[in-house]
Amino acid sequence: MKNTQATLVLIKPDGLKKSLTGNILARLSETKLEIIAAKVVRVSKELAEQHYYHLKDKPFFPELIKYLQGELHDRKKVLALVYGGEDAINKVRQLAGATNPEEADPTSIRGSYGRITTKGLYENVIHASTNESEAEREIKLWFLPEEIIVDLYHAKIKTQDQCTHRVWA
Ligand code: PPS
Repeated sequence: MKNTQATLVLIKPDGLKKSLTGNILARLSETKLEIIAAKVVRVSKELAEQHYYHLKDKPFFPELIKYLQGELHDRKKVLALVYGGEDAINKVRQLAGATNPEEADPTSIRGSYGRITTKGLYENVIHASTNESEAEREIKLWFLPEEIIVDLYHAKIKTQDQCTHRVWA
Protein backbone atom coordinates (compact mmCIF):
# COMPACT_ATOMS: atom_id res chain seq x y z
CA MET A 1 0.00 0.00 0.00
CA LYS A 2 1.32 3.47 -0.88
CA ASN A 3 2.24 5.79 1.97
CA THR A 4 1.76 9.17 0.31
CA GLN A 5 3.08 12.00 2.46
CA ALA A 6 3.94 15.69 2.31
CA THR A 7 6.96 17.26 3.98
CA LEU A 8 8.25 20.78 4.50
CA VAL A 9 11.74 21.68 3.34
CA LEU A 10 13.36 25.02 4.16
CA ILE A 11 16.55 26.08 2.45
CA LYS A 12 17.90 28.25 5.24
CA PRO A 13 19.76 31.57 4.91
CA ASP A 14 23.21 29.88 5.02
CA GLY A 15 22.16 27.63 2.12
CA LEU A 16 21.08 30.69 0.13
CA LYS A 17 24.20 32.69 1.01
CA LYS A 18 26.47 29.80 -0.01
CA SER A 19 24.63 29.57 -3.40
CA LEU A 20 23.56 26.03 -2.66
CA THR A 21 19.94 26.27 -3.84
CA GLY A 22 20.60 24.56 -7.19
CA ASN A 23 22.70 21.80 -5.61
CA ILE A 24 20.13 21.14 -2.89
CA LEU A 25 17.21 21.04 -5.33
CA ALA A 26 19.19 18.70 -7.60
CA ARG A 27 19.92 16.40 -4.65
CA LEU A 28 16.26 16.46 -3.62
CA SER A 29 15.17 15.62 -7.17
CA GLU A 30 16.92 12.24 -6.69
CA THR A 31 13.95 11.29 -4.50
CA LYS A 32 11.57 11.59 -7.52
CA LEU A 33 9.17 13.39 -5.19
CA GLU A 34 7.01 16.19 -6.56
CA ILE A 35 7.31 19.85 -5.51
CA ILE A 36 3.72 20.80 -4.65
CA ALA A 37 4.42 24.29 -3.22
CA ALA A 38 7.33 26.72 -3.19
CA LYS A 39 7.94 30.31 -2.19
CA VAL A 40 10.61 32.71 -0.94
CA VAL A 41 9.74 33.93 2.55
CA ARG A 42 10.96 36.81 4.66
CA VAL A 43 10.78 35.19 8.09
CA SER A 44 9.27 37.24 10.91
CA LYS A 45 10.34 36.65 14.51
CA GLU A 46 6.84 35.25 15.20
CA LEU A 47 7.05 32.75 12.34
CA ALA A 48 10.53 31.59 13.40
CA GLU A 49 9.41 31.24 17.02
CA GLN A 50 6.31 29.28 16.04
CA HIS A 51 8.34 27.02 13.76
CA TYR A 52 10.77 26.16 16.58
CA TYR A 53 8.27 26.55 19.48
CA HIS A 54 9.31 23.17 20.99
CA LEU A 55 12.86 24.47 21.50
CA LYS A 56 11.98 27.69 23.32
CA ASP A 57 13.75 26.60 26.52
CA LYS A 58 17.00 25.58 24.81
CA PRO A 59 20.01 27.85 25.38
CA PHE A 60 20.53 28.21 21.62
CA PHE A 61 16.92 29.32 20.95
CA PRO A 62 17.58 33.10 20.55
CA GLU A 63 20.46 32.42 18.14
CA LEU A 64 18.34 29.83 16.26
CA ILE A 65 15.62 32.42 15.71
CA LYS A 66 18.14 34.97 14.41
CA TYR A 67 19.59 32.28 12.14
CA LEU A 68 16.23 31.39 10.55
CA GLN A 69 15.48 35.08 10.11
CA GLY A 70 18.73 35.48 8.20
CA GLU A 71 20.33 37.85 10.66
CA LEU A 72 23.50 35.76 10.88
CA HIS A 73 24.01 35.65 7.11
CA ASP A 74 22.71 38.97 5.83
CA ARG A 75 20.16 37.00 3.74
CA LYS A 76 16.77 37.80 5.16
CA LYS A 77 14.89 35.04 3.40
CA VAL A 78 14.40 31.30 3.18
CA LEU A 79 13.13 29.14 0.33
CA ALA A 80 10.16 27.12 1.60
CA LEU A 81 9.03 24.03 -0.34
CA VAL A 82 6.55 21.24 0.11
CA TYR A 83 7.50 17.89 -1.38
CA GLY A 84 4.84 15.23 -1.84
CA GLY A 85 4.90 11.56 -2.71
CA GLU A 86 5.46 8.09 -1.39
CA ASP A 87 7.38 8.02 1.92
CA ALA A 88 8.32 11.69 1.37
CA ILE A 89 9.35 12.42 4.96
CA ASN A 90 11.94 9.65 5.22
CA LYS A 91 13.23 10.11 1.69
CA VAL A 92 13.97 13.79 2.32
CA ARG A 93 15.44 13.16 5.77
CA GLN A 94 17.76 10.49 4.36
CA LEU A 95 19.12 12.93 1.80
CA ALA A 96 19.29 15.75 4.36
CA GLY A 97 21.36 13.70 6.82
CA ALA A 98 21.51 13.96 10.60
CA THR A 99 20.54 17.27 12.25
CA ASN A 100 24.04 17.67 13.68
CA PRO A 101 26.17 18.33 10.58
CA GLU A 102 29.22 16.73 12.22
CA GLU A 103 27.28 13.50 12.70
CA ALA A 104 25.63 13.59 9.28
CA ASP A 105 26.76 11.22 6.55
CA PRO A 106 29.42 13.26 4.68
CA THR A 107 27.63 12.65 1.37
CA SER A 108 24.30 13.98 2.72
CA ILE A 109 23.23 17.61 2.23
CA ARG A 110 23.98 18.59 5.83
CA GLY A 111 27.15 16.48 5.93
CA SER A 112 28.40 18.16 2.77
CA TYR A 113 27.49 21.75 3.52
CA GLY A 114 26.63 22.19 7.22
CA ARG A 115 28.80 23.42 10.08
CA ILE A 116 28.63 24.13 13.80
CA THR A 117 29.39 27.71 14.78
CA THR A 118 31.80 28.62 17.59
CA LYS A 119 28.67 29.41 19.66
CA GLY A 120 27.51 25.80 19.17
CA LEU A 121 24.65 26.51 16.75
CA TYR A 122 24.04 24.01 13.97
CA GLU A 123 24.06 25.77 10.61
CA ASN A 124 22.79 22.80 8.65
CA VAL A 125 21.48 24.53 5.48
CA ILE A 126 18.09 22.82 5.35
CA HIS A 127 15.17 21.96 7.55
CA ALA A 128 13.08 18.84 6.85
CA SER A 129 9.97 17.76 8.78
CA THR A 130 10.48 14.93 11.28
CA ASN A 131 7.15 13.08 11.11
CA GLU A 132 3.62 13.35 9.69
CA SER A 133 2.13 15.43 12.49
CA GLU A 134 5.06 17.87 12.46
CA ALA A 135 4.88 18.04 8.66
CA GLU A 136 1.19 18.98 8.84
CA ARG A 137 1.80 21.60 11.54
CA GLU A 138 4.74 23.11 9.66
CA ILE A 139 3.11 23.10 6.22
CA LYS A 140 0.02 24.84 7.66
CA LEU A 141 2.29 27.37 9.36
CA TRP A 142 4.27 28.25 6.23
CA PHE A 143 1.63 27.92 3.49
CA LEU A 144 -1.96 28.92 2.81
CA PRO A 145 -4.23 26.24 1.29
CA GLU A 146 -4.29 28.04 -2.07
CA GLU A 147 -0.48 28.08 -2.26
CA ILE A 148 -0.35 24.29 -2.47
CA ILE A 149 -1.37 22.70 -5.76
CA VAL A 150 -3.12 19.72 -4.19
CA ASP A 151 -5.66 19.53 -1.37
CA LEU A 152 -3.47 18.22 1.44
CA TYR A 153 -5.48 19.05 4.54
CA HIS A 154 -9.01 20.14 5.34
CA ALA A 155 -9.62 23.82 4.53
CA LYS A 156 -12.63 26.10 4.83
CA ILE A 157 -13.88 29.20 3.03
CA LYS A 158 -13.51 32.50 4.85
CA THR A 159 -15.21 35.70 3.72
CA GLN A 160 -13.68 39.02 4.65
CA ASP A 161 -14.46 42.43 3.13
CA GLN A 162 -16.58 40.67 0.43
CA CYS A 163 -13.58 38.56 -0.62
CA THR A 164 -13.50 34.83 -0.10
CA HIS A 165 -10.40 32.78 0.43
CA ARG A 166 -9.49 29.39 1.84
CA VAL A 167 -7.94 28.99 5.26
CA TRP A 168 -6.94 25.89 7.19
CA ALA A 169 -9.96 24.43 8.98
S1 PPS B 1 14.75 17.92 19.47
O1 PPS B 1 15.80 18.19 20.45
O2 PPS B 1 14.81 16.56 18.94
O3 PPS B 1 13.41 18.31 19.90
O4 PPS B 1 15.11 18.90 18.39
P1 PPS B 1 14.92 18.74 16.84
O5 PPS B 1 13.48 18.53 16.49
O6 PPS B 1 15.94 17.75 16.35
O7 PPS B 1 15.31 20.17 16.36
C1 PPS B 1 16.42 20.84 16.80
C2 PPS B 1 16.53 22.04 15.86
O8 PPS B 1 17.40 22.99 16.45
C3 PPS B 1 18.51 23.19 15.59
N1 PPS B 1 19.74 23.40 16.35
C4 PPS B 1 20.20 22.62 17.32
N2 PPS B 1 19.74 21.48 17.85
C5 PPS B 1 20.49 20.91 18.84
N3 PPS B 1 21.64 21.44 19.31
C6 PPS B 1 22.12 22.60 18.82
N4 PPS B 1 23.24 23.12 19.29
C7 PPS B 1 21.40 23.23 17.77
N5 PPS B 1 21.58 24.36 17.05
C8 PPS B 1 20.55 24.44 16.20
C9 PPS B 1 18.59 21.96 14.74
O9 PPS B 1 19.29 22.21 13.56
C10 PPS B 1 17.12 21.64 14.53
O10 PPS B 1 16.55 22.45 13.54
P2 PPS B 1 16.30 21.90 12.05
O11 PPS B 1 15.73 23.07 11.32
O12 PPS B 1 15.35 20.76 12.17
O13 PPS B 1 17.63 21.48 11.54
